[in-house]
Order: sequence, then structure tokens, then C-alpha cells
Amino acid sequence: GATIDIQPEAAQPEREAPTSLDQCRRCELWRNATQGVPGEGPASARIMLVGEQPGDQEDLQGHPFVGPAGKLLDSAMSKAGLDRNTVYLTNAVKHFKWEPRGKRRLHKTPAQKEVDACSYWLEQEVAQVGPEVIVVLGSTALKSVLHTGKAGLTELIGKPFEHEGRWIVATYHPSYVLRVPDEEAKARAFEALVEAFQIAQEKAR
Ligand code: URA
Repeated sequence: GATIDIQPEAAQPEREAPTSLDQCRRCELWRNATQGVPGEGPASARIMLVGEQPGDQEDLQGHPFVGPAGKLLDSAMSKAGLDRNTVYLTNAVKHFKWEPRGKRRLHKTPAQKEVDACSYWLEQEVAQVGPEVIVVLGSTALKSVLHTGKAGLTELIGKPFEHEGRWIVATYHPSYVLRVPDEEAKARAFEALVEAFQIAQEKAR
């Protein structure tokens, strides 16, 4: 489907608004990232999925959810009967935050100040797409969408609520599901993701 471009805000007198993600200097994460990874999907999407930040593969390829977490997301969406091509997929933070670990780049959780700086981009995506439902994948996305570092994910799972005129459906991050060591607990977490996508489709009608 067609993708949308994120448009810049009017320039602020004290600070030039960045006109593209790759020019963004609102926080320091651009320094170690290959590129900014914008959201993707139809501008008419009724459901928006918000993850945390690009991972290793997303950073290299420039597209959201194309690595292992994306594969798990795909299988949960498909089990819920949700077509990936109809949803808008994005992240709370647009640059990959990592630290070296041997030859690998190890994911680091973004700081709240980085989440706050990057909500500049997410808010433009929400305004342009105007989804009826936002599925927040994990705690970072929840904090960004609710504009508070204090929001707790666990108590909101399976309980959709209204916020700023849209439905918010909170669920686990797919990378979290991948890391659950116990197989039964992992299966339950996966089912919670499937259920979140089913709830999202009911709320989007
Ligand atoms: N994890 C995320 O939160 N987003 C991606 O795009 C990939 C992995």
C-alpha cells in the first residue's frame, strides 16, 4: 500500500524543526544508528501498531519489524486474522539504541528523555493517519502514547481504554515474547498478543 511521508512542524524560533528523521538531532541516538526508521503503512489505516525502537535488522534495512520480533508479530497478526498490509506499523523511538557486545549490537532500552524527544515524530504519524485504535507493544510505546514515564503495562493488558479520542490496546512487546524462557508462559504471552489484535479489530469497526 501507499506509505505516508512525515511532514515537519513549522520551524520553532529557538530551534529549527528537523525536516526528516535523518536530520533529527532532538536526541543523541542518531549518532550510532545507520538511519532513522519511519513508520510504514496506509495513511488510511484504522489500526496503528507502536513498537519500541528499530532493532539491528530494522536499523540496517530502514523498515520497521523486519527482524525476529517482526516475524513473531507477523505470526500473531496472521493468527488474529489481521492483515499486516492494512495496519500502520511504527515505533516510539526511530533510531536504534545499542551497545557493542563482542561482534554484536546489543539493544538498549531508550531513556524516557529519548522517548519524549521522539514523540515529536510519533505524534505527527498519529495526527496524519488518525487511527481509531493504537496497539501499544510494550512499556516504551505505552509511555510514549500516554505521555508519562509512570504508566504500568501489566495491569492494562487485555483491557482496552480510551485516550485522546481513540482506543488504546496495550500488550506485550514481541521481543519480550521471544525471550520468555518457559514454553508454556511463552505460549500464553503469544496468545495475549493474538488477543490484543482481535480486540483491536473489534474496536476499529
Ligand atoms: N522491535 C521494535 O520495537 N520495533 C521494530 O521495528 C523491531 C523490533
